Order: sequence, then C-alpha cells, then structure tokens
Amino acid sequence: MQNRLSARWIPSFLATIITTSFVYAQQTVIPIETEQNALVLQTDGSKRVGISYFGTRLQQANEYALVTKESRQNDENSGISNSAYTPSGTWNLFEPAIRVTHADGNTSLELQYQSHQTQKVDDNVTLTTVVLKDPAYAVEVSLYYKTYRKENVVEQWSTIRNNEKGTITLNKYASANLYFVGQSFHLTHYHGSWAHEMNPETTELKAGILSLDSKLGTRANLFQPPSFMLSFDQKATEETGKVLLGTLGWSGNFKIDFETDTYNNLRVIAGINPHASEYPLTSGQELKTPSFIYTFSDHGKGEASRNMHRWARKYRILDGEGSRLTLLNNWEATYFDFDEQKLTGLFADGKKLGVDLFLLDDGWFANKYPRNGDNAGLGDWKENVKKLPHGLGYLVKEAQKAGVKFGIWVEPEMVNPKSELYEKHPDWVIKQPERPEHYFRNQLVLDLSNPKVQDFVYGILDELFTKNPDLAFIKWDCNAVIYNAHSEYLKNSKQADSKLYVDYVKGLYKVLERVRAKYPKVPMMLCSGGGGRVDYEALKYFTEFWPSDNTDPLERVFMQWEYSYFFPTIAHCNHVTDWGKQPLKYRTDVAMMGKLGYDIVVSKLDEKDFEFSKQSVETYKKISDLVWHGDLYRLANPRENEYASLQFVNENKSRSVWFTYMVSSRYGVGTGRPIVLKGLDPKKKYALKELNLYPGTKSSITPDAAYTGDFLMSVGFNPAANLKRTSVMIELTEVK
Ligand code: GLA
Repeated sequence: MQNRLSARWIPSFLATIITTSFVYAQQTVIPIETEQNALVLQTDGSKRVGISYFGTRLQQANEYALVTKESRQNDENSGISNSAYTPSGTWNLFEPAIRVTHADGNTSLELQYQSHQTQKVDDNVTLTTVVLKDPAYAVEVSLYYKTYRKENVVEQWSTIRNNEKGTITLNKYASANLYFVGQSFHLTHYHGSWAHEMNPETTELKAGILSLDSKLGTRANLFQPPSFMLSFDQKATEETGKVLLGTLGWSGNFKIDFETDTYNNLRVIAGINPHASEYPLTSGQELKTPSFIYTFSDHGKGEASRNMHRWARKYRILDGEGSRLTLLNNWEATYFDFDEQKLTGLFADGKKLGVDLFLLDDGWFANKYPRNGDNAGLGDWKENVKKLPHGLGYLVKEAQKAGVKFGIWVEPEMVNPKSELYEKHPDWVIKQPERPEHYFRNQLVLDLSNPKVQDFVYGILDELFTKNPDLAFIKWDCNAVIYNAHSEYLKNSKQADSKLYVDYVKGLYKVLERVRAKYPKVPMMLCSGGGGRVDYEALKYFTEFWPSDNTDPLERVFMQWEYSYFFPTIAHCNHVTDWGKQPLKYRTDVAMMGKLGYDIVVSKLDEKDFEFSKQSVETYKKISDLVWHGDLYRLANPRENEYASLQFVNENKSRSVWFTYMVSSRYGVGTGRPIVLKGLDPKKKYALKELNLYPGTKSSITPDAAYTGDFLMSVGFNPAANLKRTSVMIELTEVK
C-alpha cells in the first residue's frame, strides 16, 4: 500500500503553501477541512476528480482514502455522478456544472486533474485550488475552496479560462458542484413575493431534479432566494440532525439544482443561472464565478446558522462586527408629500425619540418631472427646488442642529420614462428596440454593463457625498426587475447580448467597489422593495438590508425568523410602523430583534405611546450589543407553536436577551409552561428582569428572580406571554 502524507510549509509574502493531500493507490486525495467538517476530493484512474467524502471530519486524514471504495459511485452505464465539477458532452449523463462550445463549434468537454495547492491565508483561513484541464481543447478550470476553520464555513467558486486561439462560449458555468451521500435528503427552500417574502417549504428530495432559480436580472429574490437548508438522513431540528446551510453570493439570476442520482445520493450544482446567459470568452480570457457559501453541522439548524452568522459578521458583512444607527424614516409618515418645514419638524421628532439618524426617503429630487409619485423623475438626482429650495446641504445642517445625523434614499440603477435622464440617454436603458416598453413600478433599469452608466451611477453617490460630507447613511433601493433584456451598449460594441444579465451584476459590483474605495465606512442599507436583494456578495458593500416592505409585526416574526438562518440580525433592518393590528409594544419588541428603526409620525403618538417609544430606544441601546454580536438561539418556532421565542447570548455567556412573541390570538393561548433556554453557562447564575414594559403595566416576573443556567436550560422559565402580554422581553444577567 502506498500512502504518503506530506505537509510542506513554504512561507511566501501573503500566504503559506501547504500540501496536506496524499496519493493512495495512484489516486490523489485532497481533504478540505474545517474544525468539524471535511470535503474530500479524489482522482480516479482517468484523472477525473470526484467527491469521495462530505461530513464530519475524520480524526486521521489518511483514512479518507478508505472511504472511496464504499461510497464512490462510478459505473459505466450511469456515468460518474460524484464529479467535483461535471463537464458536458463526453462521458457525463447527469446535470453538468459546465457546458462549453469551443472556438471550432465542438461542444464536448473533459476535465482532468492537473495540480492542486493549499495556501494558508492565516491561522483560520485556507484556500485550496484544484486545476483541471481538458486534454483535447485548451480550456482550464480552477476550483477554489476557501475554508474558515473555526466557523466551519466553506466559500467555493471556480474560474474558467479560455486558452484556445478563438472565442469559446460558456453555456453553463456553475460556482460549485457537490455530492452528498445519505439515506434521504430534506430540502428547505423558500418562496414568496412582494411583502410576502421567505415562506419555507420542506420537501423530501426524490428521484429527479429540483431546481431553485430566478430570472429577475437585478436581484436574486422576489419569488425565491438563493438560500436553502438541506437535512441529511432525517429532518434536522434546531438542535439535532445533519444539516447543510447554503447560499449563493450573487445579486442576479441564479440556479441551484438538486439531483438525486441512481444511487439515491444527491448532487447539488449552484451558480449563475445559465438561462439566456451564454457567456463568450475571448482567447486568454477568464470568468470568475460567484461564491457559493455553505456550512454543515451535525447538531442541527441552530448551530449551522450560528456558524454562518459568525462567518458573516467577521468576514463578509461590511462592518459586521461594528455598531449600527437607530433611525427615523419618513417614508410611511409622508410618502412623497413633504417640504423643508415638515422635514425639519421630523428631525426634532427624531431627536425627541432618541434615535441616531433621520433618513429622508424617496421624493426629494427631480424638477422638470418632479418626483411626486413613483411615475416620474427617477434618474434626475437634483434636489426638487420646490420641496427643498435650500438644497440637501441645508437639511444635513438642520438635522445636525436638531441633534440627529442625516441619511438619504437613492435608487440609482433605475429610470422613469418620464425623466430628463431617459430623454437624454435612451440608449442607457435596458429595453428591446422593436418592442413596447414593459414597466415594473413605472420604471426601467439602466444598463450597468455600459461603463458610462457605471460612471453615472457612481457619480450620483460621489456627488452626494462630495457636496454633503456629513451625509451619514444611504438607503440604496432597487424597485424593478429586467424585462426585455437587451443592451444597446453590448450591441454597439459587438458583444453578445446574452452577456447582459451577468455584466449587469458585474457592473453593479464595479460601481459599489468604487463607492467603497472612496467612502469605505458610511453605512448603507440594501433595499429592493423588500428583501429581494440580500446576498453575501452585495453584503460586502452594505451594512444592512431591508427584509420586506411588509412591516406588519406578526408577519415580520415569521419572516425575520427565516432570514435569521442565513443572515445575522445585525444586518436586519426592522422598523416600527403603523402596519398591523398589534399594540405598539409588540411592534417595537419585534423590531428590536434586529436593527431598530421607526417609520411613524412621532407627533401623532399619544403621551404614553411616546413615553414608551422613547424608553424603547434607550432599552434598545442597552441590549443592542447582544442582538448585533451575540449568538442566536431559537427556542420556539412560530410555525410550530402559538408563540415564537428566541434568545441572544453574548460570547462569555454573562448576558442574554430573550424575546417571546405571541403569534396566535385564539382564546386562552399563552406560553402556559416554561420555555427551556439555551446557550447559557450551566454553572452561572442569572438574574431575570423584564424589559420594555408599557407605561402603567407591571411585570409578571418576580423581581430578583435568579436561577442557574443549568436550571434554565433543563426546567426552563415561563415568560408568561398571553393575550394580555403578547410580547415579552427578558434580560438575563450573570449574578456574581
Ligand atoms: C421601496 C422601499 C420603500 C420605500 C419606497 C420608496 O418600496 O422598499 O421602503 O423606500 O421604495 O419609493
């Protein structure tokens, strides 16, 4: 038996190259490991690379090679289904990860192992690169696996390089191709629409292919997001079961295929949606695919999501470990109907409420076609002189005088046909020249594949910041999808129109890159008439996102719950509004589960409501570190109970904040019995204190109640939520 295990350390400027792979019976075995998990690649006799193992990390790496015989599925009649990047047009009979048309028109591709290397980026991060080549055509594919050891997260992408003399076309170009062995697989995916985002659906995967996809152009989600949970063997719960949480970092069309193979094992292929997106690569050109990010836990969905949160806060979301600004937004308070006087009054209201910032929403711009509704003015980013005769600079100063920061809404990628921008640059607009225009919210999308449009969009932000250096916040909206996908720019520069969907998103990232190079810190909210645009590529540039235009708190309990599996709550913007029938306390407590904001008319609050809101902002400031940086434990799922209950615990387990929200109003409902807490230190003793009581109400919790973590995590505690106490917020503090 030949079994060489080598570890070479070659220091270099940026990274250390290490080799932790080994050759076993002439086959190369490449373990890609995190602290708890491993994905193992292995070559076969034809130099094809397959996935031989995925799951809990083995104690002895050399035993990965022994897995092969048991689980590797390779037979001549059904093809090789465990390929690490399945090509098309040669031996493969399954869904491919890549399909190429060569310069000579040939459509076959074979990918053989060439080399691999593992670079230690730092103590926690490692990058494994596997190079594959077609022996007959000069096409090269590199697979990248970036592992975050402590967080148990893998970020995977690929690059495809054309070394042929002529142009090749990529018909499909996935980011990741995975293979899972298990007795059964349950997929939780999501569907929805505007104001109804993130409805989960769990399906047992049976024979055939289930695909999640979108073709919206400017965003991934509206009907379904590129995020899912996959349970192995049986349905995972919060605390038990093997579960993979996956999400694609791409703000446009995506496709994720789940294919059950002839052995009842599962193939997952995730990437940009190839639909209407054949991508040409000229000689020497390379395409980098977006990151597919995943984490695996054999202790249930709770642990998997905490893995993802820790990774996202530390490595991905802009200022993910920082703080956030509470704010007062004027959208639902004024819609398009405001002037300087009204706004300055609102600044004073913001100050009285105690929030950090006032956010001026839509309607502040355009003159020839004033933005007094959503049917005109979009694209004309000059202050409307009637509403704001003294300009934005004046407002920024007035806000500062009132004691709040000032932020502003923009929707820079879009245009109303009724605008000067449209009149001046019809060629900048995505539409079919021979067909009638088709609108989404009365607007069209600008062609971000065009560098001039990129300059224009960047210029909007740059001018705002240059003229108003104290501008403290941006809400970046995106309220339309791409219809009639056609680009005058690509046509004129003789590039394929089918590049538009991909080049749109790349163009957007170029703009965001430039904005962040010059303005690295200003917090920006990612909004898309709801949560459609949240993904981990966009969140490199944004500090937070708007989960839904639906701010009915009852609906929000469900939505925020589901979003929380994939995105940490520091990034969730939750506003208290007038939506829904719930009392103000309920609306506020639900909003506190993420980043608190207000979109109400403060001056219309009665005395008690105002007192309560003011106190809520103060309370939030005391507990926000837990919501932003703590570990989230889900205690009672609102879909399985008459209430939702969840808890945030700080790193050293000395403090926690615990929210319980009734989601049923049927006669006699309530928590009834203790809820078992999680994530505490069994040895520590915690004092329980109810927070955020509405003026004039009393807590049902005995003052000075204190219990050990052991007690609270075994017996539990009844927060006494019921129809009179529809939301309960409790703080736990270690008693020394
Ligand atoms: C979208 C956003 C809202 C608001 C409006 C303004 O619908 O989601 O919050 O900003 O646009 O037009």
